[in-house]
Amino acid sequence: MTIDVLTLFPEMLQPFLTASIVGRAQQAGAATIRCTNFRDFAEDRHHSVDDRPFGGGPGMVLMCEPVFKAVDYVESQQEGRPTKILLTPQGERLTQPIAAELSREPWLVIVCGHYEGFDERIRTGIGAREISIGDFVLSGGESAATVLIDAIVRLIPGVLGDDSSAECDSFSNGLLEYPQYTRPRDFRGMEVPEVLLSGNHEAIAKWREEQSILRTADRRPDLLNRTGLIE
Ligand SMILES: C[S@@+](CC[C@H](N)C(=O)[O-])C[C@H]1O[C@@H](n2cnc3c(N)ncnc32)[C@H](O)[C@@H]1O
Repeated sequence: MTIDVLTLFPEMLQPFLTASIVGRAQQAGAATIRCTNFRDFAEDRHHSVDDRPFGGGPGMVLMCEPVFKAVDYVESQQEGRPTKILLTPQGERLTQPIAAELSREPWLVIVCGHYEGFDERIRTGIGAREISIGDFVLSGGESAATVLIDAIVRLIPGVLGDDSSAECDSFSNGLLEYPQYTRPRDFRGMEVPEVLLSGNHEAIAKWREEQSILRTADRRPDLLNRTGLIE
């Protein structure tokens, strides 16, 4: 998979892109992630990328020209047509199924806003899917891009050491994951449930399934309603 990130602050992304699972995915050739700066496509001698909003009001708005030119540039760098994503708090809320869907795309172009956001014609003109990472407002799309990229890249087959670990994660089957334990068996009087030490795989699977349902019912009953496990 190729991911192009269009941003005014590529330096915010670099440490994230080279570390941990995303870094390893790139080293293994499962993902190539490139950053392009809108400012390189600014027209005037001040390299302006934003301006005051028509009609007045606070803040600065990202201008059409550098963003459209940056999108045209990355699209010219590779055969095929990318799936474009505009990061905005006004978009559809990111979920695990959306991350799974995007992990199957060969090429993504992610556009990060900044300041007061985008000129509306960027939203209507570049043909992007609009995605929000939650109902809160960030200063820029860069941190949202790291969240989105992490959620997507770990689902590319082969990226996690064991592909089944993503299948067990919360939300993958519509439920929260069961509780996990590791050594020691007893920590400050808190003991590991006996069944996990039993070696009985069937009993362990049953316990985990029950715990997953109980935990979801307790913390996220809205999810349980969607699975059809309760009426
Ligand atoms: C300060 S925000 C602009 C918010 C805009 N004025 C509004 O009220 O909808 C600047 C940029 O941060 C990014 N951003 C902020 N919150 C986000 C969220 N929840 N999900 C995705 N991107 C977000 C977007 O790219 C946005 O253009």
